[in-house]
Amino acid sequence: MSDVTRTPVVAGNWKLNQTIDESLTLVRQLREAISGVDGVEVIVGPVATALHAVAGELKGSNIGLAAQNTHHEASGAFTGELSPLLLADVGCTHCIVGHSERRQLFGETDAGVGRKAAALQAHGLVPIVCLGETLEQREAGETLGVCLGQLDASLDGVAVAGDRLIVAYEPVWAIGTGKTAKASDAQEVHAALRARLREAHGEVADSIRILYGGSVKPANAAELLAEVDIDGALVGGASLKAETFAPIVEAAAG
Ligand code: 13P
Repeated sequence: MSDVTRTPVVAGNWKLNQTIDESLTLVRQLREAISGVDGVEVIVGPVATALHAVAGELKGSNIGLAAQNTHHEASGAFTGELSPLLLADVGCTHCIVGHSERRQLFGETDAGVGRKAAALQAHGLVPIVCLGETLEQREAGETLGVCLGQLDASLDGVAVAGDRLIVAYEPVWAIGTGKTAKASDAQEVHAALRARLREAHGEVADSIRILYGGSVKPANAAELLAEVDIDGALVGGASLKAETFAPIVEAAAG
C-alpha cells in the first residue's frame, strides 16, 4: 500500500428531477449548508436543461458540475445528443457515464462507456465511470467477476490518473431501494477494483477515487466512508435536499 491520501468526493446525481428554479434553490441551500466544510470535493449533477443556470450559480464556489450522460463525438449528425465539447462549454467539470439506469434502460455497453469516458477526458472533463452487479449476479456469487469485467472493459482507452478519472461502484440492487450494501461487502468490492487498477496501471491506482453509490444517506454515510477503499459517495435520492446531502458531505470531510 502506498501512503497517498485521496481527497474524498461526494457527488449528487439528481437524475431526472428538478426544474431550473428548483435546481438553483437547491444549489443555494447547499452552498450555505456546506460553506464551512473543507477537505472534500463536492459535485452536483443536474438535468441537462439546468446545467447552464447551475454553472452560473456555482461561480466562485469550488463545487463541481456534472452532466449525467454524453455522446462520445464532439459534434455532428447525432440528433438529440450532447457532447463533451458542449458540456465543457456550459461549464461542466465532470460527467457520469455508464450509470446502471443507462446500461439497463438505454442499452449502454462497456465499450460505449469507455468511448464516452475517453472523449470526456479529451475535452478536459473527468468521467465518473459507474459499474455494479445486479441482485441476480450477487446471489449467484458473480459480484467480483462482473465488477472487474466492467472495470476492465469500461476503461479500455481511458487515461487512469487520480485527477482524470473517478470510478463509482453502485450495486444495482441498492439503487433507490433503501437497501445499502454492508460497509464490509462494499469495501471488498472497492479493494478488488483498486487491486485490479494496480495490476493494470501500477501505483496510480492509489490515487483513483472509488465512490460507493446505492441508498447512501446521512444515517449510513459515515460507516461506509470509514472503509479504507471507499473514497466518497455517489448519491441519488438524498442529494435532492440540502438537509440530507450536506450531512453526507460532512461525513466525508471526517
Ligand atoms: P440512490 O441514492 O437514490 O439509491 O441512487 C444512487 C444512484 O444511482 C446514484 O447514481
